[in-house]
Amino acid sequence: MQARHRKMLLTLIIAVLVSAWPGAATPPRPSGAAPSCQRRCGDLAIPYPFGIGRGCYLYTGEGDTTFGLTCNLTADGTYKTFCYEVQVIGISLSRGQARVRGDIRSWCYNGSSMSMDENIIWWSDFTDSQFRLSDEDNRFTVIGCNSLAYVGSANTGSKYMTGCMATCPAAGRLENGSCSGMGCCQAAIPRGINTYEVQFDDRFTTSRTRGFSRCSYAALVEAAAFDFRTMYVTADDFMESTGGKVPLVLDWVVGKETCREAARNTTAYMCVSSNSECVDSRNGPGYLCNCSRGYDGNPYVHDGCQDVNECDATRFKYPCSVPGTCVNTPGGFVCSCADKTRGNAYSGTCEAQSSQLGVHLAVGISIGLVVLVVSMSCVYMIHQKRSLASVKQRYFRQHGGLLLFEEMKSKQGLSFTLFTKEELEEATDKFDERHVLGKGGNGTVYKGALKDKRLVAIKKCKVINERQEKEFGKEMLILSQVNHRNVVRLYGCCLEVEVPMLVYQFIPNGTLYQLIHGRPHGTRISLATRLKIAHETAEALAYLHSWASPPIIHGDVKSPNILIDEDHTAKVADFGASTLAPTDEAQFVTFVQGTYGYLDPEYMQTSKLTSKSDVYSFGVVLLELLTCRKAMNLQALEEEKNLSSHFLLALSESRLGEILDEQIKGEQSVELIEQVAELAKECLEMASDRRPSMREVAEELDRVRKLLQHPWGQQTPDEERKALLVGSPITRPEIELSNGYVSLTDSAYLGVRSPR
Ligand SMILES: *[C@@H]1O[C@H](CO)[C@@H](O)[C@H](O)[C@H]1NC(C)=O
Ligand SMILES: *[C@@H]1O[C@H](CO)[C@@H](O)[C@H](O)[C@H]1NC(C)=O
Ligand SMILES: *[C@@H]1O[C@H](CO)[C@@H](O)[C@H](O)[C@H]1NC(C)=O
Ligand SMILES: *[C@@H]1O[C@H](CO)[C@@H](O)[C@H](O)[C@H]1NC(C)=O
Ligand SMILES: *[C@@H]1O[C@H](CO)[C@@H](O)[C@H](O)[C@H]1NC(C)=O
Ligand SMILES: *[C@@H]1O[C@H](CO)[C@@H](O)[C@H](O)[C@H]1NC(C)=O
Ligand SMILES: *[C@@H]1O[C@H](CO)[C@@H](O)[C@H](O)[C@H]1NC(C)=O
Ligand SMILES: *[C@@H]1O[C@H](CO)[C@@H](O)[C@H](O)[C@H]1NC(C)=O
Repeated sequence: MQARHRKMLLTLIIAVLVSAWPGAATPPRPSGAAPSCQRRCGDLAIPYPFGIGRGCYLYTGEGDTTFGLTCNLTADGTYKTFCYEVQVIGISLSRGQARVRGDIRSWCYNGSSMSMDENIIWWSDFTDSQFRLSDEDNRFTVIGCNSLAYVGSANTGSKYMTGCMATCPAAGRLENGSCSGMGCCQAAIPRGINTYEVQFDDRFTTSRTRGFSRCSYAALVEAAAFDFRTMYVTADDFMESTGGKVPLVLDWVVGKETCREAARNTTAYMCVSSNSECVDSRNGPGYLCNCSRGYDGNPYVHDGCQDVNECDATRFKYPCSVPGTCVNTPGGFVCSCADKTRGNAYSGTCEAQSSQLGVHLAVGISIGLVVLVVSMSCVYMIHQKRSLASVKQRYFRQHGGLLLFEEMKSKQGLSFTLFTKEELEEATDKFDERHVLGKGGNGTVYKGALKDKRLVAIKKCKVINERQEKEFGKEMLILSQVNHRNVVRLYGCCLEVEVPMLVYQFIPNGTLYQLIHGRPHGTRISLATRLKIAHETAEALAYLHSWASPPIIHGDVKSPNILIDEDHTAKVADFGASTLAPTDEAQFVTFVQGTYGYLDPEYMQTSKLTSKSDVYSFGVVLLELLTCRKAMNLQALEEEKNLSSHFLLALSESRLGEILDEQIKGEQSVELIEQVAELAKECLEMASDRRPSMREVAEELDRVRKLLQHPWGQQTPDEERKALLVGSPITRPEIELSNGYVSLTDSAYLGVRSPR
């Protein structure tokens, strides 16, 4: 009994001692958040660490001007909150920000001279506080007509200066909401600064233009709250409509240490609420507190962070799928499906659970089905295996395989392979979608890697009718005979399948069409590259027309059929429409094929495909290279839809410059471009016999290319020597801007180094 009494007494004494000892039960700091403190001023809630009156706010030291506020009755009869002289209009704990009303600086022309408002109090120095100017939310904004202003600070430690110029636009060019130079401009400010000063540059700030405000304004302002109105410069009502102040966002911190340092001193650590965490300020040194995920409230007071009821559909979007039930848990919530339903209650749907009997029945039926299917496929496969060999043989014969193979073998110097179906399946992962390079109307091209690591492109038709079969055979026959560096190589084919497949050399950098029309914005294609591609294409076609025997007509020359190698080497491809030049009338094609926009008008009328039809189509490709416009642009104006007619019209009216690509217009070689345009015009002649031959086109392009590389070639040796003696450069070096560096292409200096 005695012992028990003594023990109780001891417990009592300890309890009294503990509660009387300040700091043990409740740390001293949050006492600043005592319930007796005023927590509202007018419309503004004032959460701790902010507060009104001594003991109600976080006191961070002598001279600090951050958290102590005053609530004054103003002339208009409402209560407003001030931090010294600055009116506070918003406080956010979770963002660590306060919104205040900042000053506007003005600079006016009063009839005789410019004058700066002198009597504005500039409370723009937050050095002694824990405030910083939010660089994310504020922009330095200048309003006026010809106004250049700077914002900056000369304080050592945070020296900076930036600014912008608002120009005076032509009448009617001002736009509401657009602050991008005309009448209004904005500049970002650096991170981590706490003081600023605004200056106008009197050399550029005039504001004397008739019809515009005679004042210029500059202020640091919350970008989201600023909306430029044309009236600000036309009617000078900026000051009036804003009340002379603009919202400004300040970031604050509760301590200048990092979270790590702050957490070490538990007596000074501010994140006292359970379920709160410390966040390092992103705008300079210091830290903030924030409620953990799933909680909200005030992390700076004990138990300030309260669980958020995520299930409360009046406050939040209901977080579970609709037939599901939501149960709030501390820091989170749980979704579950209602009774007798199952599924994903978070993002999917809950569905009625099928009855046990149903499940058993379904399982039974499925197993039965599987067994049946497996046994049937076994029988089928055995049967197939037997017939497959004979089918393969049949297809092989059907595509003229043996004959073709013999013919190709007999030709010397050509390596032509007959691939098996298995080889090609292995190369393309069984024709997996991921290997598709391109899909045409009637076929698909896959990328594959052969066993010997060679990369190939495999062309496979979808369905094949007699005409396409012929095309395939034709392409095979033609390409197997051609061996030219600017014609895509045919490695071989596969004839064992229903639809024959062709195997080509893989050209890595896509088509000319993609290069011209699909390039990322700003990619440069120099004139030299364009001429190289044009010249090489012309060489390939000239070779097909004149050198190969019998002559070959491509029949579908267009930019999507010209492939581009790593070093911009052109490779002509797709011989599906080609013909070996007919030897007698009977072989004239009976239907016109080709691509709209590139088709030779004479061929359309006569159905007679000649080598001059390729010349016409090549002319259109040349135009694409010069103008970067599509051969047929259905979105364009009526007279601009058809590139060749648009070009011919522009040329005849001496408006060539208008349709040229901007990129080559700037280059020095105006005469060269004119020569190429002239060549294109000749290619596009209506009457085919007035068009040059492909050989002539290739030679002309070769000449122009050489001129571009060695412009002194035009000069006589005498002139050249004179130029050397005078010391002036013979040529203007071709300057290419690449990656922001200026580089001189060495061609221009070759001649100087080795004068002939
Ligand atoms: C607010 O009132 C206090 C006390 O009357 C005064 O000292 C202070 O200057 C006032 N502040 C403003 C911004 O008017
Ligand atoms: C505080 O938490 C909220 C929500 O959890 C988040 O949106 C906010 O960005 C956090 N504040 C800071 C300063 O990290
Ligand atoms: C214009 O400003 C100048 C310089 O501040 C001042 O001397 C002059 O009186 C002002 N004129 C008018 C019309 O306000
Ligand atoms: C801009 O908006 C104001 C009204 O806020 C209107 O009076 C003015 O005409 C508008 N200006 C333009 C150019 O649309
Ligand atoms: C912890 O903070 C308190 C209050 O600011 C201060 O008096 C004390 O010296 C600090 N302790 C350490 C170890 O820094
Ligand atoms: C595909 O084949 C059909 C008939 O065989 C033909 O009409 C059509 O023009 C072909 N499409 C392409 C893109 O070649
Ligand atoms: C070709 O493609 C490769 C890889 O996509 C790229 O690195 C290279 O610059 C391209 N070459 C040309 C000439 O476009
Ligand atoms: C495009 O214009 C040329 C020249 O005027 C013309 O010959 C050709 O038929 C036109 N092409 C189309 C598809 O309209």
